[in-house]
Amino acid sequence: MRLAVIAGDGIGPEVVTEGLKVLGGVVPDLETTEYDLGATRWQRTGELLPDSVLDELRGHDAILLGAIGDPGVPPGILERGLLLRLRFELDHHVNLRPAKLYDGVRSPLAEPGPIDMLCVREGTEGPYVGNGGVLRRDTPHEVATEVSLNTAFGVERVVRYAFERATARPRRHLTLIHKTNVLTHAGSLWSRTVEEVGAEFPEVTVAYQHVDAASMFFITDPGRYDVIVTDNLFGDIVTDVAAAVTGGIGLAASGNLDASGTHPGMFEPVHGSAPDIAGQGVADPTATVLSVALLLEHLGLGDQARKVNAAVAFDLSTRDPQQPVRTTEVGDRLAALA
Ligand code: NAI
Ligand code: MG
Repeated sequence: MRLAVIAGDGIGPEVVTEGLKVLGGVVPDLETTEYDLGATRWQRTGELLPDSVLDELRGHDAILLGAIGDPGVPPGILERGLLLRLRFELDHHVNLRPAKLYDGVRSPLAEPGPIDMLCVREGTEGPYVGNGGVLRRDTPHEVATEVSLNTAFGVERVVRYAFERATARPRRHLTLIHKTNVLTHAGSLWSRTVEEVGAEFPEVTVAYQHVDAASMFFITDPGRYDVIVTDNLFGDIVTDVAAAVTGGIGLAASGNLDASGTHPGMFEPVHGSAPDIAGQGVADPTATVLSVALLLEHLGLGDQARKVNAAVAFDLSTRDPQQPVRTTEVGDRLAALA
């Protein structure tokens, strides 16, 4: 496996070290190339993502990313110039975010019940494409537009991926989340696509919810969800709710995928660089290790992915909640278990 590693800023390098510890244990022929990208490089050199680096990244099987960001960098620079650029250049049209409540993990919900959902969020369209503009800025007549772009091709491929994932899970259930009653143009495209693609997956039962209703059910009845498919913006928001109810930021994993396999996927914990705890060795690397499991699964290494997931499940169920997390100790335990 040829893996590109972007450890990034803050706690990024700390959690990535542990992720690689676990990955190296289950993939003996692991070859890593490290890339210095992120806030630190930008502050030093003004560079975000040189074209030569992007070309090299394309030549790998996958990318493991820690976190990018620093309070000293104005907002938008790293997001647009590095993170979103990678997503668009590598055609990461699937943003995959599982949310599972593990035994031993406390949910903020009083009676959460079992939660095990997989959110499939569209990653390259919707309101995030930069299709908009500003007129008469800083005047009382300022006009700002941010147009949501939805293509039949783009919706079909992410819906198909979601159905494929649903078919492979025991419950075989898929929920489309949108706002079809108000966003009627895009909503109709999404609904019709789910109906058409769904005809090829008769074993999957399909539900639909408006995003506002879904936001309530994520809190009141999260156990109802199995696989979810939704657009870029709704997915961004509801996946954070799902992460919160299943134990929060130290556990939330994600994968940015090109489902066709043409470009390498990028796998990363959902959290940021956490400057408040960076350098202290107390960041939980579990979200990164769970992202490693998504990476293994995407590359067809299902057995290894299951080992890593089982190691995390065991570790979480046996942790002493009184003991503070030590980054390297968690990594050592998970590497030994996997
Ligand atoms: P953050 O996720 O870095 O931190 C939020 C809170 O969660 C902090 O109190 C932090 O200590 C805690 N936390 C985060 N990860 C943790 C872990 N593994 N274990 C234990 N505690 C953890 O979000 P914040 O503070 O809003 O952003 C900090 C920087 O990260 C900013 O520059 C932001 O732009 C960037 N960021 C980068 C992301 C990425 O690389 N994809 C995603 C989110 C934020
Ligand atoms: Mg988000």
